[in-house]
Amino acid sequence: MTFFRNPSKEPLWKEEFSVLASDERYVTRRQFTKFLTLASLGMFVGNLWILLRSRFARARQFSSVKIAQVGEIPVRGVKLFTYPTPQDHCIMVRTGDDEYVAYSQKCTHLSCAVYYSAENDRLECPCHRGFFSIKDGSVLQGPPPRPLPQVTLVRDGSKLLATGVKGT
Ligand code: FES
Repeated sequence: MTFFRNPSKEPLWKEEFSVLASDERYVTRRQFTKFLTLASLGMFVGNLWILLRSRFARARQFSSVKIAQVGEIPVRGVKLFTYPTPQDHCIMVRTGDDEYVAYSQKCTHLSCAVYYSAENDRLECPCHRGFFSIKDGSVLQGPPPRPLPQVTLVRDGSKLLATGVKGT
């Protein structure tokens, strides 16, 4: 059995194997560079999309919607409403004689509906015991990562209007 056609030349297997080791490394490097270029392009497009989306969200205009009559609910009473779309559930609490606050009812942890606990004077999420301040919607306890988005309320005569949402 012979492994050499001509003992003075290259071994037979080298003649049959057409890709040189140095070329193989070159091809691999080229593929890796192509992969890096495509990955970088993908990340650039993704970041651009996030930037444009956040700019668009900031520029979003909210309409002014009447949500209640002044004095319609008692002090420490609650009214549920939707704003700015019918899918966005919100909660308004009358915290004083002439004080009202409103927040998104969707917990910032896993989107359970929060409710007002008059006993503890805070908003509570029953799913994982996340508690929010009634004053500003900040997280008091539990896993929620962010404050509740606050609905801006404006009094217009005897009407309470929702005019925007802060912290979305
Ligand atoms: S969903 Fe509200 S604390 Fe988890």
